[in-house]
Amino acid sequence: MIRERAFPVDPWCIRETRLDLDVLAQSESVFALSNGHVGLRGNLDEGEPHGLPGTYLNSFYELRPLPYAEAGYGFPESGQTIVNVTNGKLIRLLVDDEPLDVRYGELLEHERQLDLRDGLLKRQLHWRSPAGRDVRVRTTRLVSFTQRSVAAIHYEVEAVDDVVRITLQSELVANEALPPQSRDPRVAAVLESPLQAEERLLKESGGLLMHQTKVSGLRVAAAMDHQVEGPDRTTIATEGYEDWLRTTVGCVLKPGEKLTVIKYFAYGWSSRRSLPALRDQVDAALDAALLTGWDGLLREQREYLDEFWETSDVHVDGDPEVQQAVRFGLFHVLQAGIRAERRPIAAKGLTGPGYDGHSFWDTETFVLPVLTYTRPAAVADALYWRYSTLDSARDRARTLNHAGAAFPWRTINGQESSAYWPAGTASFHIAADIADAVRRYVQATGDEQFEREVGLELLVETARLWISLGHHDRHGVFHIDGVTGPDEYTAVKNDNVYTNLMAQRNLLVAADAATRHQTYAEQLGVTDHETATWRDAAMDMNVPFDDELSVHQQVEGYTRLQEWDFKNTPQEKYPLLLHFPYFDLYRRQAIKQADLVLAMHWRGDAFDADQKLRNFLYYERRTVRDSSLSACTQAVIAAEVGFLELAHDYLREAALMDLHDLAENTRDGVHIASLAGAWIALVAGFGGFRDHEPIPDFAPRLPGRITRLEFSVLWRGLRLRVRITAEEATYNLVGADDDASLEIRHHGEKVVVTGGQPVTCALPEIPTPPVAPRQPPGRAPLRRNYSPDF
Ligand code: BGC
Repeated sequence: MIRERAFPVDPWCIRETRLDLDVLAQSESVFALSNGHVGLRGNLDEGEPHGLPGTYLNSFYELRPLPYAEAGYGFPESGQTIVNVTNGKLIRLLVDDEPLDVRYGELLEHERQLDLRDGLLKRQLHWRSPAGRDVRVRTTRLVSFTQRSVAAIHYEVEAVDDVVRITLQSELVANEALPPQSRDPRVAAVLESPLQAEERLLKESGGLLMHQTKVSGLRVAAAMDHQVEGPDRTTIATEGYEDWLRTTVGCVLKPGEKLTVIKYFAYGWSSRRSLPALRDQVDAALDAALLTGWDGLLREQREYLDEFWETSDVHVDGDPEVQQAVRFGLFHVLQAGIRAERRPIAAKGLTGPGYDGHSFWDTETFVLPVLTYTRPAAVADALYWRYSTLDSARDRARTLNHAGAAFPWRTINGQESSAYWPAGTASFHIAADIADAVRRYVQATGDEQFEREVGLELLVETARLWISLGHHDRHGVFHIDGVTGPDEYTAVKNDNVYTNLMAQRNLLVAADAATRHQTYAEQLGVTDHETATWRDAAMDMNVPFDDELSVHQQVEGYTRLQEWDFKNTPQEKYPLLLHFPYFDLYRRQAIKQADLVLAMHWRGDAFDADQKLRNFLYYERRTVRDSSLSACTQAVIAAEVGFLELAHDYLREAALMDLHDLAENTRDGVHIASLAGAWIALVAGFGGFRDHEPIPDFAPRLPGRITRLEFSVLWRGLRLRVRITAEEATYNLVGADDDASLEIRHHGEKVVVTGGQPVTCALPEIPTPPVAPRQPPGRAPLRRNYSPDF
C-alpha cells in the first residue's frame, strides 16, 4: 500500500521524490498517460524492474472462452480481455558495458513528476554504475491529446565525471512476458503471447511492427522513429525480428556532454483494414508527429490542457490534499475519455489491466455526469459507442427471451463478458443508467440531433426491456423481479428501489422523447399504445417501503433479512467477497456499495427530506464500502442530509483512492469512477448540484474546513461558474454576452443569472441532524489529520 503522502501535496503536480520498488506497480498506474485511445503505464523507461508492463489501445482485445463447471442457458460463452500491445516506451541504456538498472549500482537521485497542467511525465535520475560511472538521465514522456495515435519520449543522458561509452537501445516489443496474477477476481486474465507477427519494416532510425490477435483477429501496427543529437561520431542503426525492433544509438560522452534522443511512436489498430492500409495509417501518424516536432507536441499538449482547466478546474481552499486529488482525478477522467471517440471508457481507463479492461455502468453513472458538465462532446461519443452496440444488446435480450436491448454488464466489444449471472447479466439497471446519461446529456446541451439520431433509439430499446422484464401484479402494481441492483452483496432480488426508480425515469423520458420526435419514433415502430404502456408502468412502479421502520427497502423484503454480524467480522475479512461465499452475503444485510443511497442521489426527486435522513442512517450502518464506487455517493447524501464533516471524509476517500492506494489494488489501474466521484462529491455534495429537471439546481453548503469551493458547469453552451464560501454562493456566466441568461435554483429559489452580472446569494443554515450516523465497526471513512502542514 502506498503510505500516506507518498506524493507530496502540491496543487498541480504528482511528484515522487524517491523510487520505492515495493509500490512500483501502483505508481505505474498513477503515472499512466493516456488519451482514451492509447494508454501507457508509467513503467520505467528501461522496462525493468516493473510491476506490470502495460501498453493498451482502446478496444484492442483478445477473446477467450468463459469456462463453466456447469453450463446454463444464456451464459455468455466467450469473454474479452484487453491486450498488452507492442511496447513502444522501452529505452534501455548501457553505460560502458553496464545496463542502467535501478536495482544495481547506486541510485543517487530519482524523481518522477506528473504535471497536470502540461500533461507530461518527467523523470530525472542520477545513477552510478557498479563500476563507478555516473550519469544523469532526464526523460519526458507524453501521450498526445491532439494527435490521437502518437506518443513521444524525450530522453537525455549526461556524463558526470568521467568519459563514458553510451549505448542506447530504443525498442518496440510485442508479447512481453507478464507477471503471474493473483486469484483476486478483480484482476485480469493473463494472455500468453496473444500477438502473431505479420510484418516488420526497418529503416536506419526506426521501423514498424504489425501483429494480429489469434482469435479476435484484430490487427495492430506500431511504428517508431528517432531524432538524435549527440557528439560527433554518434551512430544509429536499427535491427528487427518478429516480435521486436531495436534502434541503437551509440556515442562517447565527455563529462558534461549530453546525448539527446527523441523517440516518436504511433499506434493503429483495426478489425477490418488491410495490412497495407493500417501500415500507411500509422506511418502517416508518425510523419505528422515528426513534422510537428517535440516542441510542437509540447505546445499542443499545453494549449489543450490550458483550455481544459480553464473550463473544468475545481478550486478547493482548506484541504490541499483534496485540491490536488480532484485535479488528479479530473486529469485521469480526461485521459480515459477524451479521445476514446466512439469507443468505451473502461473502469480503469487505459491505466492497467484490471477488470480485463472492461467497461461497466461506471461510465454512465460516474464518469459521464462529470464529462457532461465539462466536456460534453466526449459524452456524445461514449453514448454513440453504446448506440453502435445496440445490435448485440438486442441479440442478448432475444437470447434471454426479452424485448428491447439488454446491454452487457461488462464488455469491450459490446458483448456480455461476465460469466457470473448474479453480478453480471442480472444487473439490468445498466440499461437505465445508459438512458439517464442520454437524458442528462440532451438536457445539458440541447443537442436535438443527437437525441433524434442516437438517444431516441437507446431510450426506446431500454424502455422496451423494462416492459418486458417487469409485470403488473393483480393489483396493477408494476414489479421488476429477479434483478441485482448496484449493491453486489444483494443479488437476484425483487424490486430493487434503485433499478425501479431509474427504470421509471427511463420509461417516462423515452415516452416524452418519442412524442417529441414522432416521425423518428415511428420508424422504430413506436406507437401511441406502446408509449402509453411505458407511462402506465412508470406510474405503477413498486417502490418498497418498510412502514414499521419508516425506511425504504433496498429490495423487497430487505429489512427483514438477517443482520450481518459486523461486530465479529475482523477487518482482515474485508473485502467480504474475498472471504465469504456469496450465498452468505446474499442472505444478510451487508451492503457492498451505495444502492438505496445512490437512488437518493440520482432519483432524489422521489424522496422527501425526512425519508432521505432516515434511509441514510439505516443504510449507513450496513454499508461496508467494498467497492470504490460507494464513497462519493455517501458523500453526496451525507452532505444533503446535513452530515457535512462525514461528507468531507467520504469525499477524501473517493478523491484519494489511488494517490493513497486505499483499496490496495491501484496496481491494476486507477479507479476512474472513484476519481470522477471526487468531482461528484464536491459539485453534487457541497455544491448541492442536481439535474432532475431542465434547470440547474444548487443547494451549496460547506464543511468546516473547506473555506471556498469553485467549479464550473457547462449548460446549453454557457459556462456557469459557482463560487461558494461559508456564507454565500456567487453564480457567474463566464465569458457570456450581456444578453445571455440562465435560470437556476439556489436552495429552492429561482435565480436568473445574466451575462456580466454575477449573482450572490446567502447560504441558509444547515442544521446537523440530532442522530449521529454510524458505520459497521471499522468501516467508517478515515478521518485524516487536518493540521495545516499536511
Ligand atoms: C463494483 C461494480 C463496478 C465494478 C467495476 C465492482 O467492484 O461492485 O459496481 O461496476 O467494480 O468498477
